[in-house]
Amino acid sequence: HEEFTKVKNIATIELGRYEIETWYFSPFPPEYNDSLKLYFCEFCLNFMKRKEQLQRHMRKCDLKHPPGDEIYRSGTLSMFEVDGKKNKVYGQNLCYLAKLFLDHKTLYYDVDLFLFYVLCECDDRGCHMVGYFSKVTSSAFLLLDAVEEKHSEESYNLACILTLPPYQRKGYGKFLIAFSYELSKKEGKVGTPERPLSDLGLLSYRGYWTRVLLDILKKHKGNISIKELSDMTAIKAEDILTTLQSLELIQYRKGQHVICADPKVLDRHLKAAGRGGLEVDVSKLIWTPYK
Ligand code: COA
Ligand code: NA
Repeated sequence: HEEFTKVKNIATIELGRYEIETWYFSPFPPEYNDSLKLYFCEFCLNFMKRKEQLQRHMRKCDLKHPPGDEIYRSGTLSMFEVDGKKNKVYGQNLCYLAKLFLDHKTLYYDVDLFLFYVLCECDDRGCHMVGYFSKVTSSAFLLLDAVEEKHSEESYNLACILTLPPYQRKGYGKFLIAFSYELSKKEGKVGTPERPLSDLGLLSYRGYWTRVLLDILKKHKGNISIKELSDMTAIKAEDILTTLQSLELIQYRKGQHVICADPKVLDRHLKAAGRGGLEVDVSKLIWTPYK
């Protein structure tokens, strides 16, 4: 309960060319608690209390993109995979930054267990972070399963997702979500985001699931099952069912769930689901699953 009573500490941050108002409390180390504003290096995400410190830092910081491997590049968009085990400080800094915009998620986990997928807009000055999502490594899942003495079939393909406020409502959130499912497809698994989702998180997922599923239903001829939809999209069967149910596209006939696919109804829902967002070009994704 303590978390709910914590008052927002840092009011604004400077990050690259943006000054951003924060949304929530984030547990920065105590020595930062008397500052209303923090200055972040947009590349290594180190944070400082004074502008002059940042300026001095920028003269010697030689990073021009997140640490880790560039696993996707299309046009000016790049995605970097950062292993929390190899880049602890970066992972920790990213969590401090993200918590400023996340209400309920506890981010005090060991960053060792996470991979961070950092999306950037690149230009001649470097790769500027737009947002990210995190994912628990599969080896960490095995470890957790062993500790809890259970084998969960659940494969979470996303822990936290954030689009930085200056970049929100431009389709990057749906791009990040789509990317998480492309990784699941490469792993040959179905995936689902960790719960709870924030209101904005749920809206974004609902929009993504609706668009992906209805696009398939529109093109498909003949019968199709939830299992087949799940195999095609890597979306977990339960998420498909709740999405289609919320759109009232599931009917119960003769003891079976049947998907209604009246083209007019589908078009109406697709229109309501908003823009498609930025496409992930899978041919530009160079990645093999972690072992
Ligand atoms: N008001 C109403 N609907 C919104 C919204 C807002 N402020 N922000 C997003 N949505 C809905 C819309 O349906 C939108 O689609 P549309 O623009 O085509 O109508 C859809 O969500 C996704 O928009 P998109 O531009 O792809 O997402 P985004 O880049 O703004 O990122 C989040 C979405 C959730 C990542 C972003 O809001 C965020 O970082 N929020 C803070 C952190 C958070 O809550 N993360 C999820 C925790 S589980
Ligand atoms: Na989250």
